[in-house]
Amino acid sequence: MKFKTVFVCQQCGFESLKWAGKCPDCGAWNTLQEEVKAQENKKAPSRTRSFTDFSSEVVKLSESKASKEDRIPTHLAEFDRLLGGGLVKGQLTLLAGAPGIGKSTLMLQVAAELAKDKKVLYISGEESVGQISGRAQRLGIKGENIFLHCETDIQKIVESVENVNPDVLILDSIQTVYHPEFNSSAGTVAQVRECTSELVRLCKPKGMITFVLGHVTKDGELAGPKILEHMVDCVLYFDTEKDNVLRLLRPHKNRFGSTGEIGLFKMTSHGLVGLENASEYFAQTSRERAIKGRAYCLALEGSRPLLTEIQALVSPTRYPFPRRVATGVDLNRCLMLFAALEKHIGLALDNKDIFVSLAGGVKLKDPALDLAVCAAVISSCKDIAIPHDSVFMAEVGILGQVAKVPLLDRRLDEAQRLGFTRAFTAPVSKEEKTKIKQMNLAELLDLNDLSLRLK
Ligand SMILES: Nc1ncnc2c1ncn2[C@@H]1O[C@H](COP(=O)(O)OP(=O)(O)OP(=O)(O)O)[C@@H](O)[C@H]1O
Ligand SMILES: [Mg+2]
Ligand SMILES: [Zn+2]
Repeated sequence: MKFKTVFVCQQCGFESLKWAGKCPDCGAWNTLQEEVKAQENKKAPSRTRSFTDFSSEVVKLSESKASKEDRIPTHLAEFDRLLGGGLVKGQLTLLAGAPGIGKSTLMLQVAAELAKDKKVLYISGEESVGQISGRAQRLGIKGENIFLHCETDIQKIVESVENVNPDVLILDSIQTVYHPEFNSSAGTVAQVRECTSELVRLCKPKGMITFVLGHVTKDGELAGPKILEHMVDCVLYFDTEKDNVLRLLRPHKNRFGSTGEIGLFKMTSHGLVGLENASEYFAQTSRERAIKGRAYCLALEGSRPLLTEIQALVSPTRYPFPRRVATGVDLNRCLMLFAALEKHIGLALDNKDIFVSLAGGVKLKDPALDLAVCAAVISSCKDIAIPHDSVFMAEVGILGQVAKVPLLDRRLDEAQRLGFTRAFTAPVSKEEKTKIKQMNLAELLDLNDLSLRLK
């Protein structure tokens, strides 16, 4: 067999005979890696073979039978919620996240739940049987119906699946498996692509639920080709820094549900525990007292309102350039808001350091946080405490105008449930007002209104 060396972009799969710093196809830098390829028409699996195993006759859609979309719940409430109610037969899910964030832990917990009435095959290319069973012991999982197999050769994995014939397959992780007919090392584009299509061929006709774990690079991107995300039905990402106990699972793609939902978990020694009452977790300081520099907001994550607490500290600077630090919220957005506050209400911020932080250790992008950031900054700058029963929910524009945010009624319902009585928002239409009871609304047109009301 003859071999040739090619350079393959690890992001898009582009092949080139020469190395280049920048991929000519997708424009990414430093993604071209040397791979050795068998040159001629050896029986290396051809790419075109890919999805033929569930190819069909030509049929009329009206006469075709829908594959039954019965959801299979995992009984982990947070996980089911973000899957859109549960798993679907033959679903191929990719779970990606930073090292040590809890991917294997979550999968073992899901396996334990599914194993109550299904056969689960857990294949690991990263840990030994002893290590996995050690984790299972710690999590309190007996694992009657869970079969373990430590293997990295995809052909042996396929054999093992044929032998065990499981209902659920878990592969930890796609970057460690390899196809022996390809000469490149595990984790490269060619390997990841070929091993994944092998799994697609395997799981679709059998209706086997398959989970594939994946690594991410230090920028938080999935390691390996983007094409991987197209091949699977569902991509889930673990968010948040791993030194935080909070774990946030976000769907990046979901063929059977919305991608707006998130799953919130707490890492404990007994595994990941769903945080159903997340609001109480995020708001950290005692709500009994009014505090200077703190403003509450009900931010939306997916369709779920979360009580969040914005903390701001505005203090005289000792540096030639005042410092601007934002944690958990977008710094550029904050800089825009600071400029709007200076321009429109004359807040003197030019010789002050400003620190803004979203309590709870998550990053949120909801524009509704704008008003809370402004309120917290005004509060800290002018030394005015914001009453503890107030929430702030509106977008603030560069002209200082206050704008409406979506799903206000749902946010207000949650605020009410949590005992807030006063809400600062953009003007609300009459129609919407009928839905809002018991909440004292302060409708603001612009930042001036806000500043006048915070006295
Ligand atoms: N005894 C323990 N108590 C609390 N948390 C623990 C304990 N042991 C492990 N953990 C948590 O579990 C995490 C490791 O989980 P897990 O092995 O599932 O991660 P992973 O995402 O699979 O990592 P990798 O990418 O290395 O496979 C640790 O970072 C730690 O937070
Ligand atoms: Mg792991
Ligand atoms: Zn590329």
